[in-house]
Amino acid sequence: MTADLSGLPLSVIPRHLAIIMDGNGRWAASQGRGRLAGHSAGAESVRVIVEACRRLDIPALTLYAFSEENWGRPKSEINALMALLKRFLYRERALLRRQNIRLRAIGDLGKLPSATRAALEQTAEATASCDGMILTLALSYGGRQEITHACRTLSAQVLAGEIKPDDITPEIFESYLYTSPWLPDPDFLIRTSGEIRISNFLLWQLAYCELYFTSTPWPAFREAELMEALVSFAGRQRRFGKLE
Ligand code: FPP
Repeated sequence: MTADLSGLPLSVIPRHLAIIMDGNGRWAASQGRGRLAGHSAGAESVRVIVEACRRLDIPALTLYAFSEENWGRPKSEINALMALLKRFLYRERALLRRQNIRLRAIGDLGKLPSATRAALEQTAEATASCDGMILTLALSYGGRQEITHACRTLSAQVLAGEIKPDDITPEIFESYLYTSPWLPDPDFLIRTSGEIRISNFLLWQLAYCELYFTSTPWPAFREAELMEALVSFAGRQRRFGKLE
């Protein structure tokens, strides 16, 4: 039994919590502020939720920070998000190390600006020996793109005669995904800000995941909202298609 942050008992905590952080823009508009103010407040929620998950002993947290589709936003917003991400990575590096959190990233990282990629690489390297929690940022990430990338690599190996088509199983296939072999499938997904969809996030890995949708926008999603979500998770019955 893990004690939660507000004294409630949590009988089960997720092994891998994934979050679609949505609603920065709408939160900012509701305050009469610009979208970038929403992203900055969203970065503060990231810090708070990462720390809370670590304290709760959640072994893996994956955040959808920039989707493949987000490249279609105005250049000014993309640049501001990339700069914010870079600042966050430099600023929080010491905290990640102190809290024994390893940073990793998944996605088509080659598309990121070189300064953001350098910040990611340096923070990943600086936290490489941390083993208290894995924090994964999904950046320039799309589930369909990830599956297509896996198919390309796998089919090249089939063509080279290294693997036979009949030998391809779900387990073999998933070993070609970005999350393999260091992340288990998420067992709990939270999406903020009222949309009830998956939006191309971890399509393969979410097969048996418990889903949780809240109307709270990401910049307002803090410890109390996380606890509410985790209490909901602890009350779920997971049968994986079988009988109890
Ligand atoms: C969705 O809100 C959020 C994003 C596209 C980016 C997420 C980025 C952050 C939380 C801040 C920086 C991240 C890190 C890891 C430090 P939206 O812009 O789609 O909001 P809207 O749907 O209300 O317009």
